Amino acid sequence: MSRTRILVFDSGLGGLTVFREIAKLLPDADFVYAADDAGFPYGGWAADDLVWRVVAVMRRLVGEFHPDVAVVACNTASTLVLPHLRAAFPDIPFVGTVPAIKPAAGRSRSHMISVLATPGTVARDYTRDLVASFAAHCRVELVGSQNLARIAEDFMHGRPVSDDAIAAEIAPCFVQDGERRTDEIVLACTHYPLLLAQFERLAPWPVEWIDPAPAIARRVEFVL
Ligand code: DGL
Repeated sequence: MSRTRILVFDSGLGGLTVFREIAKLLPDADFVYAADDAGFPYGGWAADDLVWRVVAVMRRLVGEFHPDVAVVACNTASTLVLPHLRAAFPDIPFVGTVPAIKPAAGRSRSHMISVLATPGTVARDYTRDLVASFAAHCRVELVGSQNLARIAEDFMHGRPVSDDAIAAEIAPCFVQDGERRTDEIVLACTHYPLLLAQFERLAPWPVEWIDPAPAIARRVEFVL
């Protein structure tokens, strides 16, 4: 009997945060993990170029590995490219990763939430529409980080990373307004959960950090 093959794709190592959750739920699956290192980081790519790039890379991956499901474990790509992938490969189910704005807005008691993502993801209509649809009752800070994905890659490669640099990247997520302050922060780039221990240690006050990876894993199981 052939095993179910799951392709997990990201621009780099961030998709491993999604892979590890899928592997917990579906330990017997056959996994292919693909990182587009040559294109990393996706955060600063122009939209049209990124669509072209991801469809081209996916064409090679699909041709070589014939996955039963393809997981785009990258918010920067998913918020833009999913409709193009579904049109180009109609026989393959795609599961994407998009900012978990709905659960954050639902859980927040202060009604002040932040979305920490790449510059590409915060600029997308897709992300703005999520805010309008699910967080209209909240003050939402969209924080596009220039450097965190690269810092996460450095960390994973065992290179030194600076607490000051990480603290500076997350600082705009923490907003105080009189008695109220941010209480939920959406990790809207799959690289960021790799730095969660640093975020928790360097946060000016405790918050909930929302990592959607377990929900994505459940979605993969459902699709299969
Ligand atoms: N891991 C990717 C994401 O979820 C982006 C990192 C990058 O290539 O900029 O958005």
